[in-house]
Amino acid sequence: MKKLFYLLFAVAISSTTYAQPSQAERDSIAKYTQLDYLQMLGQLGIQESELRPGPSGNPDAPNAANRFEEKVNTYILPNPLVLRNGEKVTGTEKWWQQRRPEIVEDFQREIYGHLPANIPSVKWEVVSVKDTVVGNFPIKEKRLRGVVDNSAYPPVSVEMELLLATPTEARAAVPVVLEFGFITSPWNPGPVVPLTLGASGEPTWKEQLIARGWGYAIIVPSSIQADNGAGLSSGIIGLTSMGQPRKPEEWGALRAWAWGASRAIDYFETDKDVDVKRIAIEGLSRYGKAAIVAMAFEPRISLGFIGSSGAGGAKILRRVFGEQVENLASTYAYHWFCGNFIRYASQKTADDLPVDAHELVALCAPRPIFISAGSPQVEGQWIDAKGMFLAGANAGVVYQLFGKNDLGTMEFPPLGTALVSGEIAFRQHAGGHSTGPNWSTWIAWACKYWGTCKYY
Ligand code: GCU
Repeated sequence: MKKLFYLLFAVAISSTTYAQPSQAERDSIAKYTQLDYLQMLGQLGIQESELRPGPSGNPDAPNAANRFEEKVNTYILPNPLVLRNGEKVTGTEKWWQQRRPEIVEDFQREIYGHLPANIPSVKWEVVSVKDTVVGNFPIKEKRLRGVVDNSAYPPVSVEMELLLATPTEARAAVPVVLEFGFITSPWNPGPVVPLTLGASGEPTWKEQLIARGWGYAIIVPSSIQADNGAGLSSGIIGLTSMGQPRKPEEWGALRAWAWGASRAIDYFETDKDVDVKRIAIEGLSRYGKAAIVAMAFEPRISLGFIGSSGAGGAKILRRVFGEQVENLASTYAYHWFCGNFIRYASQKTADDLPVDAHELVALCAPRPIFISAGSPQVEGQWIDAKGMFLAGANAGVVYQLFGKNDLGTMEFPPLGTALVSGEIAFRQHAGGHSTGPNWSTWIAWACKYWGTCKYY
């Protein structure tokens, strides 16, 4: 009976991608999230009372998360260039053959989860193609639907929503930046997201990309996997588990979203408007986490723009500053990760993690990756800009192995400084929780690698 409710509920929420949930729906999501969370604790053999609570994101709370550099703990980062057996990695072959697979396995087993073996195929359908404009720039806009074969478990259906925009005037395939984000959908109309509202009259990221002669694409994460624990019995995770709870090693939403981005790239490979050798991934916050996970696991992504990804993204998890593992392992975020990750908020601590975020950046090597943050005064300290800088800085040794340039410094730079001379880049802009103010810096940096910095 419980199972049935779980299933009916999951099917119901998966079809409400855009509508604001009512109070009753929010209550149901909270209730079924709690049920799923408790069953995962049961699988892990953890009592609720054994969980350490995370600090508060409210700086005025008595248990506020640390935001003072002098109170940061000392910690030891795992060495990305030492094999588990203690041998040093001195060349790229050993990195590819031995060390990188070890790191991948640790991230999969302990943090983001393994993909299940039985993920069904996806069929992309073009829903509409139209000539339109973004700002003053003519674009060809395609709406696509990625229908996942659900014949093995018909109660759950998954249709991924994707938008692709390329310059109408393009004479050849163009580079494309794929964003985890929001679109209005012709088959599922929702709140209108303005396409051309830039901060203080500046061109939007879309306009900036099209003006370069590049394209942009948006994939809607919630159309792949719901952003809550209650939704784990639906979406691509619920389809592959046939509505059953996950095993502790199986994927969470971040890997599911990243998987969806890979399927979008499969589609791009079939579309003559897209230069699949030049695909970038971009996202903010939880989607910034998804963006770095996607880049780490998908070699076809050639550049990254990782926005304010914080804990669970490009921030050193061992660093006691801002959001902590204990927060991520609680009911509001545990579904982003595999169940095993919860153990680091009870039986273990962040210091026990076999890997940390610098090694997530390292998994992207030698491909160029740009780590973006906002200003602590505007964005707050929750995302820990310095913790993200340090992940980039400590990934440098792996990029150097490839003869690439790292951040060029181990010193956290003043706000606004663009560290863009290498394949690992970092900039903390003066705005809030957005990638917006870093787009022009990102594009100028990306031009070095994509080589098309001209207008048509
Ligand atoms: C919360 C959460 C962060 C996350 C953010 C977001 O603040 O704690 O980890 O990145 O939401 O996605 O907006």
